[in-house]
Amino acid sequence: MRNDKTDILKIIISEEEIQEKIKELAEKISVDYKDKNLLLICVMNGSIFFSVDLIRQLKVKADLDYISVASYHGTASTGAVTLHRDISTDVSDKDVLIIEDILDSGRTFSFLLKHFKKMNPKSLKSCSLLDKPDRRVVDVVLDYTGFIIPDVFIVGYGMDYDQQYRQLPFIGELKPEVYTK
Ligand code: IMP
Ligand code: MG
Repeated sequence: MRNDKTDILKIIISEEEIQEKIKELAEKISVDYKDKNLLLICVMNGSIFFSVDLIRQLKVKADLDYISVASYHGTASTGAVTLHRDISTDVSDKDVLIIEDILDSGRTFSFLLKHFKKMNPKSLKSCSLLDKPDRRVVDVVLDYTGFIIPDVFIVGYGMDYDQQYRQLPFIGELKPEVYTK
């Protein structure tokens, strides 16, 4: 059966470590966005778990909207980023914080930053639970980073391989034979 632990080579970040890091990030964001008009934008589908857990830990007022983009097929980025669903909030008076699962080549973030800049929000910042700096193609500087990880293909906690494994509570390295067979 897919989605169970047998396809996982090893756990990279445990459920407890994820939640601990989210608390830390939420503390920082709560300080920085005190007296602001925070709008979190969940980048579907990968960052759904992260966005939900993060917003629950915030000590400041925050709205939530979501955007849906795709750039990834299998285990390698295709290069092109496609917009599937845009946000519906007027951001002109909002302090927008983009919430991503993982920064990899940087193409998605670069697309998103340009996309939201055009909407003229009050401010615009970026947050990603994971960062894989070894694979960067486009320069992106994150305002909030959870974990820096090596160049391995990971799944779980919202992140998928071929739309599977998202519901694993931890972040794990997928066995290469799963995607090479
Ligand atoms: P980028 O545009 O190359 O930075 O890719 C960003 C997107 O690719 C992320 O939001 C993820 O959805 C996906 N992605 C990148 N690396 C991985 C991985 O190791 N596992 C699962 N998805 C990944
Ligand atoms: Mg993503």
